[in-house]
Amino acid sequence: MKSSILLNTFGLVQLSIAGYVLEDDYSPSSFLDGFTAFSGPDPTSGFVKLVTMDEGKSTGLISAGSTSVKLASDSTNVTPSGRPSIRLESVKSYNSGLIIADLAHMPGSICGAWPAFWTIGPDWPANGEIDIIEGVNSATSNSMTLHTAPGCSISNSGQFNGLVKTSNCDINASGEGKNVGCQIAASGSNTYGDSFNSVGGGVYATEWTPQGISVFHFARSAIPADIASGNPDPSGWGEPLASFQGGGCDYSTAFKNQTIVFDTTFCGQWAGQQDVWSSDPVCGKKAATCNDYVQNNPKDFAEAYWEINSVKVYQLGDSSTPAPVASSPAAPPAAASSSLAAPAAPSSPASAVPAAPSSPASAAPAAPSSPAPADGSSYATTASMPPLAEPSSTQSLNPAPAIVSPDAAGDEYEPKGGYESMMAGWTTTFAPGGMAAATPAPQRVKRMEDSLSKFEKEEYKRVIDSLNEFESRSPVGRHFRHSHGHRRRQVYA
Ligand SMILES: *[C@@H]1O[C@H](CO)[C@@H](O)[C@H](O)[C@H]1NC(C)=O
Ligand SMILES: *[C@@H]1O[C@H](CO)[C@@H](O)[C@H](O)[C@H]1NC(C)=O
Repeated sequence: MKSSILLNTFGLVQLSIAGYVLEDDYSPSSFLDGFTAFSGPDPTSGFVKLVTMDEGKSTGLISAGSTSVKLASDSTNVTPSGRPSIRLESVKSYNSGLIIADLAHMPGSICGAWPAFWTIGPDWPANGEIDIIEGVNSATSNSMTLHTAPGCSISNSGQFNGLVKTSNCDINASGEGKNVGCQIAASGSNTYGDSFNSVGGGVYATEWTPQGISVFHFARSAIPADIASGNPDPSGWGEPLASFQGGGCDYSTAFKNQTIVFDTTFCGQWAGQQDVWSSDPVCGKKAATCNDYVQNNPKDFAEAYWEINSVKVYQLGDSSTPAPVASSPAAPPAAASSSLAAPAAPSSPASAVPAAPSSPASAAPAAPSSPAPADGSSYATTASMPPLAEPSSTQSLNPAPAIVSPDAAGDEYEPKGGYESMMAGWTTTFAPGGMAAATPAPQRVKRMEDSLSKFEKEEYKRVIDSLNEFESRSPVGRHFRHSHGHRRRQVYA
């Protein structure tokens, strides 16, 4: 979410706010219309025979009921040429979003099985891959992984409860195994296989923005009410299992045109590697090789099925109504209000429900006559946003003050000042006039502070207080606070 606040004369504020709105609803009745079955040779070299949609339907491996869709694997035949199974890929592709999958069941912790719920872009790995649920053999906890071309790695500093195993997402990273990518292992229970199924499954929610990719998991009994009601707000969900962020990765360029995939394969490049198979505490004892086991033990694959209650894709919707604040001629141009790209596929599947054009934040008051910023940025208020106080004085500041702060990485400064930088910054300083883009040295920051008039400091404090209140009182505000993680806001007043 990219938003901006500009602190202009009298501390006037421009905000753009947004909440998640439903873009596509892959519900059971139309789920299969939104997906195609990939039936070629498994790109991951699995000991599998991927079926077509028609074969899947006629053999019962693919079935849609009124409350769920089931994607199964053969569990009746000895299969010398690979076990029949499924790989379904969404027709539509995405460039951002919040993907919420409600799963009643996933393939169990079965020797030889390698199930995954993931997304992938064209021309792998140039357009990235996001593995949301994945594991092999007897695993009972989830591994979440990104695979990219060179130039994307993650930092280990965010708030999430998983464990970073590898931090370079480049499939060819030196010091990491081939195609390993950056991986975060889940900690916590019921995240994968038998453990996931033992509590009736649950929800995986993946939030993908230009700033990062977070994976949240909720067991069936702990699904947040806002997910159940279709108004998801990640800011209230607590820590994700995984948060891929920082490290200089731009998550909107490293990942593009992602299609959503469910598959269950066997053995192949992960589950079937001899050292992986042999060292598995359960599976290594059962057969000499993964393929032997998968070929000869059909009944053990009865639980190798996905049962999907729903998959919903949400996008941030902008409310682009200017706030009723006086315009300032001294205002620098605002940052673009949203860099979240629209979904790629021009033709949506039959199952797709187009997102409502107006976001829930459309409670914004009528637009005042002041024109929108020339660069297309937007600002708005919501009913739940505290009103900003009117300027207490007619004193004008010239030039307009700006807020300057380090960005999330701590090494860049945003001269225009912005809501984004205030949220993400470690310190926020306030200076008269537009700041140069240079890094302000501590002495310089001090001089800037010293140069502020008492009035300027008071105005700044007033705006900061409004923002704090906005963040604590409105869902959208809470979302901002959440999505910007740690920030320390300093008020020099
Ligand atoms: C990864 O390395 C292989 C050679 O080992 C090369 O063919 C391939 O192009 C590389 N991929 C990327 C994305 O750098
Ligand atoms: C993504 O999809 C759009 C629409 O089909 C296409 O124009 C664009 O070139 C694609 N981008 C990549 C990187 O494949």
